Amino acid sequence: MFKVHAVAAHRLPQLLRAMPKAELHMHIEGSLEPELIFALAARNGVKLPYASVEALRSAYAFTNLQSFLDIYYAGASVLLHAQDFYDMAWAYLERAAADHVVHTEMFFDPQTHTERGVPMQAVIEGLHRACVDAQAKLGVSAQLILCFLRHLSEEAALETLEQALPFRDKFIGVGLDSSEVGHPPEKFKNVFAKAGALGLHRVAHAGEEGPPAYIWSALDVLGVERIDHGVQSIHDAALMKRLAAARVPLTVCPLSNQKLCVFPDLAQHNIGALLDAGLCVTINSDDPAYFGGYMNENFVQTFAATGLTAQQAYQLAANSFEASFISEAQRHHWMHELKVCFERFVEHDD
Ligand code: ADE
Ligand code: ZN
Repeated sequence: MFKVHAVAAHRLPQLLRAMPKAELHMHIEGSLEPELIFALAARNGVKLPYASVEALRSAYAFTNLQSFLDIYYAGASVLLHAQDFYDMAWAYLERAAADHVVHTEMFFDPQTHTERGVPMQAVIEGLHRACVDAQAKLGVSAQLILCFLRHLSEEAALETLEQALPFRDKFIGVGLDSSEVGHPPEKFKNVFAKAGALGLHRVAHAGEEGPPAYIWSALDVLGVERIDHGVQSIHDAALMKRLAAARVPLTVCPLSNQKLCVFPDLAQHNIGALLDAGLCVTINSDDPAYFGGYMNENFVQTFAATGLTAQQAYQLAANSFEASFISEAQRHHWMHELKVCFERFVEHDD
């Protein structure tokens, strides 16, 4: 294990910001800032139920997941053309690069758009073009994961997968998101089996608000490789043991959990307990435009509130590369860069 020297508390935020990291849980529609929502609404002639950027932002007071999703889907209504999807993704990718995110696997929700008559091709081609440019212009590798909306039927998910197949080379996996409670993973058994047979990676939101039973079924019925959120696993000792033994990654989103009242405040987040139990935990931003921060804000605020250490910072960044769907060569490269970053930082300690 790479041993990290103690770092003075006042220098920890600098280290958190500088270290290379991967982001594995970020909904691209959740990166739409109010300013861009208004700009796209004007460009596309879409009428919004909010008078101004400030009025929209002041509606961002959530009590649970559903109270957020209602506003999040309304915000996405301004996206109509491939260029809109490109502009949204590009804005996120520039921010990610500034946070030293070197690799990102971005969720997108095609059903939010195809249900409004937007062609699948416009969605995927706009997003994909931003991913290509991110590698060329920012040095960030970016991939797409297609999410099914779990409040809709499995039939609708199967149809969505079918519509996306002409663009199979432009996304690396499938996920499951939207309203969790009442929509258990097993509802999507067939569509995940089909995605698996097509060689797509599989992930699912489970244990954000829903019970540990949803994490078990995401693993055993859907065959997922990662659990998105998964913070409710803490209530099931046998599940914790399994997740630790199999190194099943949890893509945890601390500021999201705070804003959606999954924990009463950030200081009471269980990320430290999950790490102490040996789970492959990562930190991610989920819906950064809505939850008050991109990657580095999630790291800095979480460390300040919970007292995580520099050793745990290293662990979280290393976990992000372990959990990502990159090649072994890329993983090797970024693990080396991560160690170099920590060594340099310690050398220059005062
Ligand atoms: N879609 C966007 N953000 C989400 C979240 N945190 N949980 C479930 N679905 C989502
Ligand atoms: Zn999410």
